[in-house]
Amino acid sequence: MTIARYLLLLALCPLVGGIARAQDHPVNYDEAKVPAFDLPDPLVMEDGTPVETPEQWRKHRRPELLRLFEEHVYGRTPKRSVEVSARMINECIAFGGLALRREFDLSVAGKSDGPIRLLIYSPRAVEGPAPAFLALNFMGNHSIQPDPEITLSTQWIGSRAGHGIEKNRATEASRGRLSARWPVERILARGYAVVTVYYGDIDPDFDDGFANGVHPALDPEGGGERKPNEWGSIGAWAWGLSRALDFLVEDEWVDASRVALLGHSRLGKTALWAGATDERFALVISNNSGCGGAALSRRCFGETVARINRVFPHWFCERFRSYNNQESRLPVDQHQLIALIAPRPVLICSAEEDRWADPLGELLAARAAAPVFRFLDSASLVHRLRPGKHDVTDEDWTAYLEFADREM
Ligand code: GCU
Repeated sequence: MTIARYLLLLALCPLVGGIARAQDHPVNYDEAKVPAFDLPDPLVMEDGTPVETPEQWRKHRRPELLRLFEEHVYGRTPKRSVEVSARMINECIAFGGLALRREFDLSVAGKSDGPIRLLIYSPRAVEGPAPAFLALNFMGNHSIQPDPEITLSTQWIGSRAGHGIEKNRATEASRGRLSARWPVERILARGYAVVTVYYGDIDPDFDDGFANGVHPALDPEGGGERKPNEWGSIGAWAWGLSRALDFLVEDEWVDASRVALLGHSRLGKTALWAGATDERFALVISNNSGCGGAALSRRCFGETVARINRVFPHWFCERFRSYNNQESRLPVDQHQLIALIAPRPVLICSAEEDRWADPLGELLAARAAAPVFRFLDSASLVHRLRPGKHDVTDEDWTAYLEFADREM
């Protein structure tokens, strides 16, 4: 390369970076700079007609809102049904007799990168099928407990999700690594089963043009240009949660009518979307889900629509990008996602230091969703703020268990 070309490249580099970054504004953590906004009313139809009866909500407004979230935010989950078959991998007694621990593979016809592996702990002391917590995990099923018998994930694991300790494939280094977030024994002793799936089994979390995971199995045949409303990874992860629930419906150890769906961070966004799309989930808990989850997009506080679409272009549908730096044009905001779960119980958990996820935006979303819960005669929407950082703590579990005891 000639010196002149090298200098030209050097000169262009900051420009290229500048152009990429000019798409999103600097991160705002200043309440004084939060723009003034009006939220779309969950109880008024798109054409301005107020929703007057619970029946109108069910028949008209709820489907309308679901469609708006599909068209503008998460994309449409393909209606196509695919064959999913289950096979047991192992079964044993765990925690000194407290639980039965089993693993199952859900094989999805047309998915070529491996099955979706379910890990289930069920309490043996509970008579009949037990209520359960169902949650996706970030690093493989083996990461939730230091138990050498849990199969090591063979799927792609991102170093981001893997907390930098592994690159692309799981090793023994991550066995039990996330156990602080999964107090399984305590949950079992309280009478609940624990069901988990590694989210990368459903769709590996990187932007590969939707060639891997469940997308090829469900997307329209023939490929071609992606439509602006085609689903992304959050839609796929939510679909996987529904398939896990299908499995539980047939399982004698778990009561599928009492499944609390829980998710942290990107998986909290997923839990809310899955809870909205699949009414069989009895209760939903979003932990620190932030932008695209429980936080209002219009506040532009912490992570914004533009930033999330730039860094994670595969999470949402393409049309969501047209709202980058234009949040007020969105026909929906995230309070309406929470409202879609009503009258089923919802717990929104925020952490004071997790400003990236905008704890106040999560509180305001819960507040703006509350009229729908009241309208449907439900008092089961709670927002909870704890001190500390972006995480799932023992104290959070105290709140989840109390909420589930009371509401489910
Ligand atoms: C990033 C991302 C968030 C997401 C989080 C996570 O911080 O910006 O939107 O919630 O990752 O899932 O860990």
